[in-house]
Amino acid sequence: MYEDSPMRHFLTLKDFSKEEILEMIALALKIKAQTKQRKFVPYLEHQTLGMIFEKSSTRTRVSFETGIYQLGGIGLFLSSNDIQLGRGEPMKDTARVISRMVDMVMIRTFEHSKLEEFAQFSKVPVINGLTDSYHPVQLMTDYLTMIEFGKEKDPVVAYVGDGNNMTHSWLMLAAKLGFELRVATPKGYECDAQIVADALEIAKESGAKITFGNDPVAAVKGCDVVTTDTWVSMGQENEKEERLKAFAGYMVDESMMAKAKNDAIFLHCLPAYRDYEVSEETFEKHANVIFNEAENRLHAQKGIMVWLDSQRAN
Ligand code: CP
Ligand code: NVA
Repeated sequence: MYEDSPMRHFLTLKDFSKEEILEMIALALKIKAQTKQRKFVPYLEHQTLGMIFEKSSTRTRVSFETGIYQLGGIGLFLSSNDIQLGRGEPMKDTARVISRMVDMVMIRTFEHSKLEEFAQFSKVPVINGLTDSYHPVQLMTDYLTMIEFGKEKDPVVAYVGDGNNMTHSWLMLAAKLGFELRVATPKGYECDAQIVADALEIAKESGAKITFGNDPVAAVKGCDVVTTDTWVSMGQENEKEERLKAFAGYMVDESMMAKAKNDAIFLHCLPAYRDYEVSEETFEKHANVIFNEAENRLHAQKGIMVWLDSQRAN
């Protein structure tokens, strides 16, 4: 359907300038305001979004499928259990077939290289819906939520927990936008060394202050935003027992939140495992922010899809 022509993919925040990230956020805010007035502008009329899932999802599936529909298009849910990809059809063939029929593709998969391979062979923009290495649509959402709760001006963000796909995406967001990020992980669960090096390189230009340590209380002290994520990501289920031991002392609870600023917000991408990475009490105390964050998946991703569409030469 599309000839080979210039286009952008959304694989990691590393690939975007600060200005581009802010353009997508501005679009998201504009489209959110329209949606709240029940004005559904068909920015992507008659477009199809293919949504390939090799891992489970609640938010990513519902927000992308609803989002493309509200933009005038349609979403195709393609679970790897049902399509030939799950029976061994190569990623590059899957990409060359699907991208001839749809207008955009979202993929949730394991190795980041699988997403890159799909993008390399795709004729249409590809969006990362989570890989083992990154979850950038969630970070666009989290930043949108920070804006709405008045935390975008020189924020100090503390990430407490596993050095995983969420942490890596926080590193890229902080590095690109130039804010302070303190990462506290247990020993042995630090971030990927190459991603850290990339983020620190980008931070030199933006002025972002990014620090790493093994003391969650020190990381949280005086910060504006506290965030965490599950200690056992999808695909790590067989490490659960050892991980639960290693993360002792990393639960975000009221005594930890007391070290942050009085008006600090708590973000969680969800799903949350109560009384592991966050206490039930802290979770419920911050439920308003957390569920606005969850809703913002819908709005942030509309901004991303409309922006990607605007970048291609049709
Ligand atoms: N936060 C997030 O990506 O949620 P799902 O796994 O439910 O899509
Ligand atoms: N780190 C988690 C995020 C879930 C949205 C995982 O990869 O399972």
